[in-house]
Amino acid sequence: MDSRRKTLKTILSCILGAVAALLFYLNAVNSNRLVRRWNLPIHRKSPSTTTTGTTAAEPQWEDPGPYHVAYPRNYTFVMDDTPTCKTTTPFLILVVPVAPSNVESRNAIRETWGSEKLVLGQLVETVFILGLPGGDNAEQQQERLKEENQQHRDLIQSNFQDSYRNLTIKTMVMLEWLAKNCDKSSFVIKIDSDVFLNVKNLVKLLLDPGTSKENYMTGLVWWHSPVLRNPFIKFYMPTDVIPEPEYPPYPLGMAYVMSLDLPAKILRISPQIKPIYIEDAYLGMCLKRLGISPTDPPTQKTFFVDPKHPLSRCDLSEAIATMTKMLSQMKWYWERSRKEQPCSIAQVNQE
Ligand SMILES: *[C@@H]1O[C@H](CO)[C@@H](O)[C@H](O)[C@H]1NC(C)=O
Ligand SMILES: *[C@@H]1O[C@H](CO)[C@@H](O)[C@H](O)[C@H]1NC(C)=O
Repeated sequence: MDSRRKTLKTILSCILGAVAALLFYLNAVNSNRLVRRWNLPIHRKSPSTTTTGTTAAEPQWEDPGPYHVAYPRNYTFVMDDTPTCKTTTPFLILVVPVAPSNVESRNAIRETWGSEKLVLGQLVETVFILGLPGGDNAEQQQERLKEENQQHRDLIQSNFQDSYRNLTIKTMVMLEWLAKNCDKSSFVIKIDSDVFLNVKNLVKLLLDPGTSKENYMTGLVWWHSPVLRNPFIKFYMPTDVIPEPEYPPYPLGMAYVMSLDLPAKILRISPQIKPIYIEDAYLGMCLKRLGISPTDPPTQKTFFVDPKHPLSRCDLSEAIATMTKMLSQMKWYWERSRKEQPCSIAQVNQE
């Protein structure tokens, strides 16, 4: 009885040991495969450069993981024959990041605020920036984009794949384009395609003697934007990527304005800061490293991210950029802003 139990015990421990050994082996094979896969793109580098510091610049790094993007990289422009900044020197450039398929928004902008070329005596030009179309009909989409550009000459296209996750790449490529072509111009606004822009109010602000011509970035500045730690929500960011509880101050991505010395400065510093996929917060990180602080707009009523629609006549006459819910609303605000008398001084005083 006793010896049988002993034998059983021995057999059992043998089986357990074998299973453990097998699991260990499978695990080793698996992680080896992982290591091999991760090593592939960084073959030419010494192992010491593969550590994942937040400041490591790794141009060869292929898989950025869920929180970073593949930048810097040798991206090239596949479409870039716009005359803007090449044969013209606008005072202000309106750059609209847009999905390749979103031709409705591009046309709406061309018909509304994007059509304003001479504002308060200043030359203003609009360009759209996009990546490569994806999906089954990518080739057809690309053909249509070429035709669209032949007609309007306002598309700038880079050879990364256009997706929401790649917005930071789009922003950095935009800065590259601006630094290369537009250093004689004064200001740029990066503005999303669903935003109504009052170009005149913006030019007025930029012409104001109180507006700095250098190291200037404005918009709806988030001075204390918390780093979100709930893994189930959008913009989740784990502590090992961003240990600080708050992002450095940055203007919200829907519309931000820069003096045109900043693109080159941000590009120069950016290899020191690994880019996260949240493009506006990343620009805040770059600004902080440069020792530059964003500037609040002169009043609280200039940049609206979540306004109560419809905007009152007074709000509309003061606004610079307002998020809208649909293109028809954007067009309607533009028409109202052209037709209606500006809010009178008497009314402002009453408020
Ligand atoms: C980047 O790509 C272009 C075109 O493919 C090439 O001419 C250039 O040498 C590349 N530059 C670097 C630094 O790899
Ligand atoms: C951009 O995003 C897509 C999917 O979101 C991804 O597959 C692609 O590799 C990304 N990067 C570049 C550089 O295109």
